[in-house]
Amino acid sequence: MTSPLFLPITFRDLTLKNRLAVSPMCQYSARHGVANDWHFAHLSRFAIGGFGTVMVEATAATAEGRITYGCLGLWDDAQIAPLARIVDAIKSQGTAAAIQIGHAGRKASTPLWWRGSFNETDEERREAAFEHWQPVAPSAVAHMNHPDYQTPRAFELGELSGLVSSFAQATLRAERAGFDIVEIHAAHGYLLNQFLSPLGNRRTDAYGGSFDNRTRLPLEVIQAMRAAWPMGKPLFMRMSVQDAVDGGWSVEDSKVFARIVRQMGVDLIDCSSGGFDGAKLVPGPCFQAPLARALRETGIATMAVGLITTPDEANELIQDGSADLIALGRTALDDPNWPLHARAALEPGDTYDLWPRQAGFAVRNRERALGRLR
Ligand SMILES: Cc1cc2nc3c(=O)[nH]c(=O)nc-3n(C[C@H](O)[C@H](O)[C@H](O)COP(=O)(O)O)c2cc1C
Repeated sequence: MTSPLFLPITFRDLTLKNRLAVSPMCQYSARHGVANDWHFAHLSRFAIGGFGTVMVEATAATAEGRITYGCLGLWDDAQIAPLARIVDAIKSQGTAAAIQIGHAGRKASTPLWWRGSFNETDEERREAAFEHWQPVAPSAVAHMNHPDYQTPRAFELGELSGLVSSFAQATLRAERAGFDIVEIHAAHGYLLNQFLSPLGNRRTDAYGGSFDNRTRLPLEVIQAMRAAWPMGKPLFMRMSVQDAVDGGWSVEDSKVFARIVRQMGVDLIDCSSGGFDGAKLVPGPCFQAPLARALRETGIATMAVGLITTPDEANELIQDGSADLIALGRTALDDPNWPLHARAALEPGDTYDLWPRQAGFAVRNRERALGRLR
């Protein structure tokens, strides 16, 4: 019998072959926002490994919206073709190709995560197309008092319609690249989260203050992206369901927001948390899954993410109704074939149909030779 984790699910005109998605993960390996062979190899291996959905990392709607100079972008048509090649490879395995579109706001132009600081040599800077710029954000307040984070410039009121339109333009480019799913990045203390949360938004105009005002820009972005994205294709949104900081965005705020965005055509909320300085979060096995369960009560589909590492945990979260999809980040990096192995662990018998045909028959033969499969 097929385990719940491996049952297909349909969003609009798209059917995913199972409930496992690769969580978006920045690679800090692009030059000028353009994907290259690293992104191709890194993302293709997850499709070969049996994931139902593979999501490309946070991809910036504008150049200044990159988290680092090594992040991907979709602000220029020249960025489409290398992504289209990756989309083709993912889809060739019967896997859905997804991309996360976002803007870092005041958390832009930070060091490459695995470097830890701006310690590149001049030669490395030339090779990696190093850039450093002043971030733009809802308010001119730094993320935290740390050399990695600059004080941003605040968006002028008159600039916001252009910002919304850049998200729509990036969505149109994602469609031209052939993606099946677009995910709006409204989590982790980046731009849209900065607008939503009182911790990041100190504006005194129509885009700051009350809940209605703080949600205005994110809702305009959702509306513009939904209009730019074909009706038959699903639109996901990643949220920090709670800031986990006193006076910040709460689970109750997320529930109200989830009901609104569902009406606007968001099909699923990818439920993460945190992103502001001082967040009281205690990571542990499946620690964010209760957030996915809480939002599912509003009627919207959810994806659970965060330290989900075993097949039983992932299967149980689908079975008990906590979430519709499971996203794996570091667990996928650790084992790109995780779905293939999970299927074998959850279901007795021959599960090699999930393998690519070029490899599945050979591994099946190995198991037979060892007497582990009849
Ligand atoms: C290297 C790395 C890069 C990440 N980049 C992104 C990103 O681009 N967008 C995002 O929403 N989350 C990003 N995350 C968070 C992951 O998507 C995921 O939510 C988090 O790692 C928790 O899941 P895990 O315990 O399975 O790794 C990143 C995480 C890692 C480890």
